[in-house]
Amino acid sequence: MKILLLGSGGREHALAWKMVQSPLCSKLFIAPGNAGTRLCGENISLNINDFNAVKSFVLSNEIEMVVVGPEEPLVLGIYDFFKQDASLQNIPVIGPSKEGAKLEGSKAFAKEFMMEMKIPTAAYQEFNGQNLKEGLAYIATQTPPIVLKADGLAAGKGVVILPEIEAAQQELSEMLAGKFGNASSKVVIEQFLSGIEFSVFVLTDGNTYQILPVAKDYKRVGEGDKGLNTGGMGAVSPVPFVDDEMMKKVEDRIIIPTINGLKKRNIEYKGFVFIGLISVEGEPYVIEYNCRMGDPETEVVIPRLENDLVDLFVALNDGTLATKTIQSNPDFATTIMLVSGGYPEHYEKGKKVQNLEAIEKGLVFHAGTTQKDTDIVTAGGRVLALTSFGKTMEEALSISNKNADTIDFEGKYFRKDIGFDLQ
Ligand code: AMP
Ligand code: GLY
Repeated sequence: MKILLLGSGGREHALAWKMVQSPLCSKLFIAPGNAGTRLCGENISLNINDFNAVKSFVLSNEIEMVVVGPEEPLVLGIYDFFKQDASLQNIPVIGPSKEGAKLEGSKAFAKEFMMEMKIPTAAYQEFNGQNLKEGLAYIATQTPPIVLKADGLAAGKGVVILPEIEAAQQELSEMLAGKFGNASSKVVIEQFLSGIEFSVFVLTDGNTYQILPVAKDYKRVGEGDKGLNTGGMGAVSPVPFVDDEMMKKVEDRIIIPTINGLKKRNIEYKGFVFIGLISVEGEPYVIEYNCRMGDPETEVVIPRLENDLVDLFVALNDGTLATKTIQSNPDFATTIMLVSGGYPEHYEKGKKVQNLEAIEKGLVFHAGTTQKDTDIVTAGGRVLALTSFGKTMEEALSISNKNADTIDFEGKYFRKDIGFDLQ
């Protein structure tokens, strides 16, 4: 089967690495990919949000499956574009329909969905430009910190948590006035939940589901979870405090009602649901849904998965997902992200990556890299994800840390304390 994978991050390198191990995959194209994905298949230059360009590539290269890595094409409706086109409708797209992708693309939609399905999540109110006054008054009644979320996609910057009422009121005014463009024309204000976060990944065909290995990522740039939010600085899987009892609560209270909710609303969904959770005194609450895999969680979840991923994707499409059993490696996987100095704010690109060949143990997933002549150079904030295995989390982390010390580029930075709160 010829497969096209859309995306260019560490997540996509991990997915590509896994998919090409499948006997079902005869050829993999990655659009646009990075210097790592080119080791798994053929990178092609394509604007993945230009569906007509994707269509012409798919038809001229006889692609038989499209796997969508990032959220944007899903939120823009790539699934529906394929289903509505007679020449494409038989080609499976791994990812939800536009309506399903709203679980990530609209915070207000996700909150309203959770309320209807009685899924535990923070209490909230939704405001727009017409009821700014009510919003300001609502904030005044809340106990800080105040959590404000732009409704739409805002490149990971749309959640603002403020310790004071006045600052939160100011933020609401700015958001509704267009701080994040159209994405903040609606704002969700929700109760602050205090606890420890983790990520659960579900593969669903909209009817049945399979649960993938659980993970925890580290979003803040600084050690001790301090500083600005990033896309993720590292991840571990499994997560020691997420035991069978916790997973049963997550499955009964969150996963099953989510799948039932998709069914109830006739939402087509053949892809990943990423459920961002917080354990508040042992009880799980949903912080957010995403309609894709997490990054860098994929770089620990997918290496632990022992199933053939392409076979699971085929099963999503032919109604046999329920017959599958997820097998995962019981060992710990950890990943440490090497990032460009200055990330998540201003950083430079084009720095030569050195010593990749010196890595003896572990996996190197490329995120922001590109090939320049014979060199690999940095091309983004998050540059490489260094994944390792161990019988214990400490053992895995020691290899990831050693590799993080070995690989070099000008301005390299990484967190040395991934997993600090789990030991
Ligand atoms: P999101 O983009 O929804 O994942 O939010 C980004 C981060 O903000 C989350 O990973 C949490 O750390 C934090 N966050 C979001 N919502 C809440 C909440 N209701 N209470 C506490 N922290 C939150
Ligand atoms: N690591 C969090 C995310 O992918 O959204």
